[in-house]
Amino acid sequence: MPNFSFTVDYQHRIRFTHDVFHIENLTLREVLNVEQKNTKIIVLAEDAILEVSSNLGAQINNYFQALETFDYKGCYPLNGGEASKQNFDVLKHAWDIIEAQGVDRHSYVVAIGGGAFLDVIGLACATAHRGVRLVRFPTTTLAQDDSGVGVKNAINAFGKKNFLGSFAVPYAVINDFSLLQTLPLAERRHGLIEAIKVALVKDADFFNYMINNAESLAKAQGEVFETVIEQSAILHAKHICEGGDAFEQGNSRPLDYGHWAAHKLEQLSDFELSHAQAVSIGLCLDTLYAVKLGWFDISHFNEIVQLVKLLDLPVWHPACELLDAESEQLAVIAGLNEFREHLGGELNILLLKGVGIVEEVQQMDTALIAQCFAELKELKDLV
Ligand SMILES: NC(=O)c1ccc[n+]([C@@H]2O[C@H](COP(=O)([O-])OP(=O)(O)OC[C@H]3O[C@@H](n4cnc5c(N)ncnc54)[C@H](O)[C@@H]3O)[C@@H](O)[C@H]2O)c1
Ligand SMILES: [Zn+2]
Repeated sequence: MPNFSFTVDYQHRIRFTHDVFHIENLTLREVLNVEQKNTKIIVLAEDAILEVSSNLGAQINNYFQALETFDYKGCYPLNGGEASKQNFDVLKHAWDIIEAQGVDRHSYVVAIGGGAFLDVIGLACATAHRGVRLVRFPTTTLAQDDSGVGVKNAINAFGKKNFLGSFAVPYAVINDFSLLQTLPLAERRHGLIEAIKVALVKDADFFNYMINNAESLAKAQGEVFETVIEQSAILHAKHICEGGDAFEQGNSRPLDYGHWAAHKLEQLSDFELSHAQAVSIGLCLDTLYAVKLGWFDISHFNEIVQLVKLLDLPVWHPACELLDAESEQLAVIAGLNEFREHLGGELNILLLKGVGIVEEVQQMDTALIAQCFAELKELKDLV
């Protein structure tokens, strides 16, 4: 029997702009295929964002109604936030709208929202008709500098983060910095943790840029902030598109640095910890662990702690010291096995040997993890 082999060519269209729904902004028009007349276009927007930005809904309607070659089907508000990933309600709501409006594989679904919202709508779009065109408009720092430019979507199920989902390349991603203006300062800052992560794993110059511009970065607006989001998004996208494993068939997941503990801590804290906050702890944990192994320079670790504190991010949380009733070891340790399950195959944890220099390990010493958490707890109150 022959083995058939084929490749599918994807374009990952990523754009950066301001005021994308201003009538004279051409960013979206230049990305959409205007050849085909009367293509349906529909907007699914996170309700919280339409509420905080009172004229956004009207602006969206004006913008799309003016796109003459398209058949605009309206802007629908749906729930977002992590709660929208916790059951099938929002997913079903999105399917209902997609079905009722006759959206097909040549139509565009524009999704405007945070990372959680984009995950749910992404799953709805990947599954309706086995895939309709999705144009993402991320509205949080984290969604712009990381998840929005990714090729994954998911909801949580069986008590596990992102258990049900698929890989699907969006038709386009439009990062409009103006959409971040309504986000509270803390949220704008927190999402920068994924930029710190990708810099630590991939790009020492970028890491130094953040350290050297920390005060400016903490304002979470203006040039430094936008440069960091853009560079982070590009590094994430470059890894996905050029790293040779876009759909994560292999065992290695450099973009998930610090995430084995983070995913578990989100769940253990009953989602009191946001993804960004949990990643901050997970990243500090794995970095301190590398310091303990003698792999990573403590002065860089201290720089990281200072930076995350400047961004109001935690290095520790009470969920870190919860114990598992049966094993009597730290409950977060179960995150190692869950991470392995999620990856498939054997456990691979990425550790740092320097900024931008990585090495994978297949196991971690649980006593050393506990020691690191104890030290992070001490560090939490130090300025
Ligand atoms: N698919 C992927 O590759 C991937 C990668 C990393 C993270 N994620 C997922 O992303 C999610 C986290 O995303 P997030 O950090 O964007 O959080 P989020 O989507 O939960 O949004 C945080 C809060 O901000 C609000 N909000 C969003 N945009 C706003 C705006 N412009 N103005 C005012 N309020 C606004 C939301 O309503 C929500 O309450 C997690 O579920 C995580 O698992 C997915
Ligand atoms: Zn993440």
